[in-house]
Amino acid sequence: MMKYQRDILKGVHGYTPGEQLNVPDIIKLNTNENPYPPSPKVAEALASITSDNFRKYPDPLSVKLRQLSAERYGYPSAEWVMAGNGMDELLAMTLRTFVNPGEHVVSVNPTYSLYTILVQLHGAEYSEFDLGEDGALPEALYTSDAALCFVPRPNAPTGLCASRESMERLCESFKGIVYIDEAYVDFSDDSCMDFPKRYDNVIVGRTFSKSFGLAGMRIGVAVANPAIMSEFLKTKDSYNLNWASQAAGVAAMEDYAYMEAQANKIKATRARLTESLRTLGFSVRDSQSNFVLARWNGSPNAKAIFERLRDEAILVRYFDLEGLDDALRISIGTDEETDALLSALAYLAE
Ligand SMILES: Cc1ncc(COP(=O)(O)O)c(C=O)c1O
Repeated sequence: MMKYQRDILKGVHGYTPGEQLNVPDIIKLNTNENPYPPSPKVAEALASITSDNFRKYPDPLSVKLRQLSAERYGYPSAEWVMAGNGMDELLAMTLRTFVNPGEHVVSVNPTYSLYTILVQLHGAEYSEFDLGEDGALPEALYTSDAALCFVPRPNAPTGLCASRESMERLCESFKGIVYIDEAYVDFSDDSCMDFPKRYDNVIVGRTFSKSFGLAGMRIGVAVANPAIMSEFLKTKDSYNLNWASQAAGVAAMEDYAYMEAQANKIKATRARLTESLRTLGFSVRDSQSNFVLARWNGSPNAKAIFERLRDEAILVRYFDLEGLDDALRISIGTDEETDALLSALAYLAE
């Protein structure tokens, strides 16, 4: 296995290879998946795919999914939307399309760890600037002359949102492309989905892996000015979304209210988990995502807490990185999973 593939499995998602197989009885709170299944309409749509569909290539342009996304997000046509094999493909496509090897890409710190891996694979230069305590954008970002800036909003792994005003300032001052990664936005109070109407250099990315509960189907969309889209069309793989992913994405979009109801359920569990973790002595900021970042400065340390949970078959995310090594990132699970997690942590209060 190539080194970068290993890094992607281990560094980005916290897996060791093989662990991603479905092992029963594990409580999996380490990769920010949705604890609930997707809309039942998705299974119905998948069941209606015939073997004749398997024989034929899928729609190379994922037109229906793009049309529905445009309508939902307030854009005039599918020409404002690109579909991807997960948001990860859209991030790679953005680099391929808008950054030459050797050029500079910037982001914030901490951030989604795939950015640096993709930039390295592309042969470009990468710098990260520290976020403020409250998730505020670093001043250095506004004055950077990089070709591309990735900003996750809400941020991963902090779960905090930079203000919309600061995002506007960034989009106005930054000369290159600003990619606003809204992977977790359905769990937050507001979004920047209107920005591509106002700024020609902005791409807003969404994924179906989190709020829609479709991580296994690999679906993402990016919204931007049609001029950006026509550049994407030059570099995209011909058939990047298969029949099943397109059918699943369309069915999920058509049942948008189902996704919103699940997101609300997750937000309610998030509030309960946040309070309970604070009572145990963790320091937890109010998250805008489907995970919380819980900092701990007692004994045993965060790594030991992570290892003990793992021994009890509860997986959370621990980052052995400066600035994060006192923290656990915990995905919001079902209420039962949250109860099991809290019981497993109860020893900390003794
Ligand atoms: C900030 C961020 N962006 C993008 C992604 C990837 O989304 P997808 O599953 O659609 O590739 C993730 C997944 O964890 C993420 O945390």
